Amino acid sequence: MIRINEHYLKLQSSYLFAEIAQRVRRFQEENPETEVIKLGIGDVTRALPEACVRAMHNAVDELGREETFRGYGPEQGYAFLREAIAREDFQKRGADISEEEVFVSDGAKCDTANFQELLGPDAYVALPDPVYPVYLDSNVMAGRTGALQGDRFQGVRHLESTRENGFIPDPPGDPVDVIYLCFPNNPTGAAIGHEDLKKWVDYARENRALILYDAAYEAFIRDDSLPRSIYEVPGAKEVAVEFRSFSKTAGFTGARCAYTVVPKECTGYTSQGEAVSLHGLWLRRQSTKFNGASYPMQRAAEAVYSREGAEQVRELIDFYLANASIVLSQMRSLGLTCSGGENSPYIWVHAGRDSKEMFELLLSRAGVVCTPGIGFGSCGREYIRISAFNSRRNIETAMERIGKVL
Ligand code: MLT
Repeated sequence: MIRINEHYLKLQSSYLFAEIAQRVRRFQEENPETEVIKLGIGDVTRALPEACVRAMHNAVDELGREETFRGYGPEQGYAFLREAIAREDFQKRGADISEEEVFVSDGAKCDTANFQELLGPDAYVALPDPVYPVYLDSNVMAGRTGALQGDRFQGVRHLESTRENGFIPDPPGDPVDVIYLCFPNNPTGAAIGHEDLKKWVDYARENRALILYDAAYEAFIRDDSLPRSIYEVPGAKEVAVEFRSFSKTAGFTGARCAYTVVPKECTGYTSQGEAVSLHGLWLRRQSTKFNGASYPMQRAAEAVYSREGAEQVRELIDFYLANASIVLSQMRSLGLTCSGGENSPYIWVHAGRDSKEMFELLLSRAGVVCTPGIGFGSCGREYIRISAFNSRRNIETAMERIGKVL
C-alpha cells in the first residue's frame, strides 16, 4: 500500500490564488456582462522590454543553427548571467557577492519553496503574519508544523506585522532556527530600513539562525536610503540567503527567470553542532534536481543589465508605481488607511471589515478583484491587498468603480 505524505492533508484545500481564480471564474460565468478587472494576483500586464525580446530572439536563432546550438546548460546558470547579476545587483551597491554565489533558476516561488529541503525536519520556523503563502505551505508539506487550529498552524512562530509596528516585526525574544523575511513586503508593501534589517541580521548571528530573504520586489524601491539587498548589512553573508526574480522586475512572470544567492560563508549545523556550508548543499540539490533555466530566458535576463534594458525596466517599474500611487490616493481619499504603494506594487488596505466580505463586495458590486487579507494570515483579517499590475485604464476604472461602491 502506497502511503501518502499526510502533512499535505493539513493544508487548506487549495492554494490562495487558485481559490480566488476559481471564485472569479464562477462570478464571470454568472455575470457575463460585467467586465471584471483583476487586481488580485500580482501578475504583470505590460509587454516584455524590447531589449529582452531581442535577446530572446537572438538566442532562439542560435539554438536553431548547428554551429551555435547548445544543449544542457550549467545547472547553476550561465556565467554571462551570473557575472552580470553579481556585478550589477550586488557589487555596484557595495555588497560583496561573487558570481559563484548566484544560482539562476526559473522562479523565486520554487526556490523559496524548495530551499527548506536543506533544513532539518524539526527546524523551528518563524514567519511573518501576513505572509506570502508559499513559505508557510512548503513547511507544512515538509512536516515542520503542527495542525491548523483556527487560522494558524501550530508549531510555527508567527511574527505579527501590524499597523502598530509599521508592518515590520522585531526579532522575537527567544531563539528560532529559520526566519522568512520579504521586503518590500508581499502583501503589506512595507519596505525595511537598514537599522531594522540589521536587527534581524544581528539576531540571526546571535542565534545561529538562517534568514531566507525574499527580495523579489526590490526593483520597486525608489527611496535610495533603503537597502535593496540584505547583503548591504555587514555580516549578513553568514546568515542569509536572498531570493530575487525577473518576474516583477522585467515582466517575466510568463517568461520565467529568477535567481537565489547562497553565499559561501552561509552556514547551517549538523545535530552535532558541526558547521556546514549551505552553498555546497544547495549546489548539490540543484545539480541533482534541476537542469537550469532555458538559454533564451537567461539571455533575456542578461539584457536587463544592458543600458537599454535597464532604461526599459525602469520605465516599466515607473509605470506600475504610478498605478500604485493612483490606488493609494483613491483609497486614502475614501478614508481608508493603507501601507505600501510606495517602493512597492502592493497596497495593503485596512478595510475595517472582514476581508472576505470586502473581497465579495468589490467583486459583486464593482467587478474588481482584490486579494482578501485573511489569505495571507490572521493579521490580514481586516485587510485587502490591491495589486498595481494592470493597465492605466483598468486601474483608473477600478478606482472609479470602487469609489462609487464605498
Ligand atoms: C502574488 O500575487 O502574491 C504573487 O504574484 C504570487 C507570486 O509571485 O507567486
